Amino acid sequence: APYLNDLAQAAGKLWFGTATDQPGTGEDTNILYQTILNNTHIFGQITPANAMKFVSTEPEQNVFNYTGGDIDVAIAQDHGKYLRCHNLVWATQISDFVLDGNWSADELTAIMQNHISNVVAHFGGACYSWDVVNEALNSNGTFSPSVWYDTIGPEYFYLAFQFAQEAVDALPAGTPKPKLYYNDYGIEAPGNKSTATENLVKELQARNIRIDGVGLESHFEVGGTPSLEDQIAQKEAYVALGVEVVITELDIRFTQANATNSTGFAQQAQDYYDTVESCMEVDGCVGITVWDFDDQYSWIPSTFPGEGAATLYNADFTRKPAYYAVGDALQGV
Ligand code: G3I
Repeated sequence: APYLNDLAQAAGKLWFGTATDQPGTGEDTNILYQTILNNTHIFGQITPANAMKFVSTEPEQNVFNYTGGDIDVAIAQDHGKYLRCHNLVWATQISDFVLDGNWSADELTAIMQNHISNVVAHFGGACYSWDVVNEALNSNGTFSPSVWYDTIGPEYFYLAFQFAQEAVDALPAGTPKPKLYYNDYGIEAPGNKSTATENLVKELQARNIRIDGVGLESHFEVGGTPSLEDQIAQKEAYVALGVEVVITELDIRFTQANATNSTGFAQQAQDYYDTVESCMEVDGCVGITVWDFDDQYSWIPSTFPGEGAATLYNADFTRKPAYYAVGDALQGV
């Protein structure tokens, strides 16, 4: 079978990678899962699916827990993989003290700054990048509700990047500087949300606040994946602003369980091919990450009951046609 990361790197990309969700999810005790995860010929990068989020890293105010995140740092270092660090500011998976504190704007801003500065300092140069703000927009392009937006207003977005820039710049001399990303879904093809994302990048740049990249989650549906042309055009639109892009959370789910037949798997393979190909066609698209690699550990069935089969491997770790289609796209076949 093709070695996906080797092919990606031979083609000039930084990685083909995967999210991983440890400890406590069963991935850590599954030998087959571990063997594939650790194989850097296949996956040259990891993203912690949950371990670096606010609720994981600061469960109580100013009490930090890096246990899970440090496991991901060790996996990356032991096996020579890049690490995307995910995420600092999001509406979801926030600790109760943030949600229940009835904080003023100034107080919540201080909480955000304290979180960002501590977490960025702890993981330091181990992170290739940080998703500084995650999923800040509604589909119509306006800011979506969150404790941050509702309390601080739109300024929270720019402050988060400013605090992240300050935290990165405060790392010890010689430390590789993590890149600062905005990460979202529904911004992979032209549309209101993508235009709004371009405007956020421009506004940060106008304020002289650093943003290095846009993460395109790419949670797609079989048969409903944006076209190759649209995916290329939107990546080029971001890159034209002077930032890089990464496909950060790729998976392509079946919306109907009874569609997982040979026709359906062929369509899924084509959708994976087009998405990976769109990154190959754009120099500023530096890497491709799937949101875990085996159906057994996919987030989809618990969030979308009846949907699934979204990853590159069947639950028994056999490869789907989509796996080989990704290999073809990485090789330019
Ligand atoms: O840790 C608790 C555990 O103590 C408890 O017993 C268990 C019972 O439900 O829940 C566990 O927490 C779960 C957590 O994953 C860790 O497994 C949460 O319920 C569950 O909601 C959470 O789901 C995560 C989801 O983000 C939360 O929104 C998924 O694993 C994770 O893959 C998913 O990742 C997001 C990205 O961060 C952003 N983009 C979308 C993507 C998919 O939703």
